[in-house]
Amino acid sequence: MKLRDIRSLVNIEGPARSVSERLARTCHSVDDVRKLAAKRLPRSVFDYIEGGAEDEVSLRRNRSSFADWSFVPRWGAIENLDLGSTVLGEPTALPVILSPTGGTRLFHPDGEVAVARAALAAGIPYGLAHLSTTPMESIAASTPELRRWFNIEPVADKGALQELLDRITRAGYEALLVNVDCRTIGHRERDYRNGFSAPPTLRARTVVEGALHPGWAWGLLRNDAIAFPNLDGTIPAGPMASDPGMWRTLLAGSYEPTGWGDIEDLRRRWQGPIVLKGCVSADDAAIAAGIGIDAVQVSNHGGRQLDHMTSPLDILPEIVERVDGRMEIIVDGGIRRGSDIVKALALGADACAIGRPYLYGLAAAGQDGVSHVVRLLSEEMSRTLMLLGISNIKELRDSGRALLRHRNGMGDKQS
Ligand SMILES: Cc1cc2nc3c(=O)[nH]c(=O)nc-3n(C[C@H](O)[C@H](O)[C@H](O)COP(=O)(O)O)c2cc1C
Repeated sequence: MKLRDIRSLVNIEGPARSVSERLARTCHSVDDVRKLAAKRLPRSVFDYIEGGAEDEVSLRRNRSSFADWSFVPRWGAIENLDLGSTVLGEPTALPVILSPTGGTRLFHPDGEVAVARAALAAGIPYGLAHLSTTPMESIAASTPELRRWFNIEPVADKGALQELLDRITRAGYEALLVNVDCRTIGHRERDYRNGFSAPPTLRARTVVEGALHPGWAWGLLRNDAIAFPNLDGTIPAGPMASDPGMWRTLLAGSYEPTGWGDIEDLRRRWQGPIVLKGCVSADDAAIAAGIGIDAVQVSNHGGRQLDHMTSPLDILPEIVERVDGRMEIIVDGGIRRGSDIVKALALGADACAIGRPYLYGLAAAGQDGVSHVVRLLSEEMSRTLMLLGISNIKELRDSGRALLRHRNGMGDKQS
């Protein structure tokens, strides 16, 4: 080899000119972004994102169910590859939703605003948590064009409910995501073992963790104290917001004896779409369809609530069959690859939602990090569809299970 040939092989990259360029060079998968988030955050805060309930069987199963399905690609021309679809009857650039997550400013000072801006840039909806650390009105003001959904629990006190619904309406939210999986809060033992306290209190351990993660600590200290401004009216604002007692009450959950009657009542009060989040029983899905609910989000809360629970992907075919097109089906839990989204859609979901993946992006690099995660999933979806021989989401959903084989033979007869 001549010196000239060797020189042509050497390609020394200059420093990255932007955060997105640095992410593009270093993070080639959601798991790479996760590792970056793990470095940026104190262990106890990272574990708060990462952990699941009790033995974390639900958490692990969410991920492993995707590996039970393998692709059966077909040969044929790809024409105008397109990931666009609709969700709740409206267009979306990708069949992906950023699912609600509480306490988001703990992970990055730009919190929910950064997530909302990334969702808007990607052309996908974002569900804001009731326990978000930014007021619902500020998200509306920062991203007026965004498809904004709002996450609530069923509420027994109808006066309080109506006040909340009026506020959500005034702030221009399109849809409600109603939790039916939070009668109490799952026992996330990592948090107890880590002594995770919210809000972060200045104990010796916190000081050490902060010193070891100065970027995170500085972001937390130079911004407003973490608070839950969407609860104003329910819980006094101001100094109470940083009272550990209030956090304990919130994190332990407060059971409200609500049932189907309250969902029917909500249907009468809210004119826009309603999604039941955490619905995993085909019987419940059928009842929901019967009372005019628009969609279910098949979910086990990312394995954070009931342990040893079915994974959303495992139960999805049963729900698809029972719902029989009467409402939309969103699925979440364990989605880390574009190919996971393709599998869920082939099994009959209309769209997928993600939680931790975008939080990894947020913790790693704010809005740029969230955008990078959505870009990775979108590129992986495109590549998977190309390799499968599928041009668009409609064709994917029409082809359905013919594209998949279950390792135990489930679904083979449909092919
Ligand atoms: C840190 C964290 C906080 C969450 N907070 C909420 C919440 O306030 N309301 C809610 O309905 N779901 C919440 N979820 C669940 C997500 O909306 C979603 O169902 C779940 O994260 C999906 O699983 P995945 O993380 O594997 O994508 C939270 C999840 C995480 C990781």
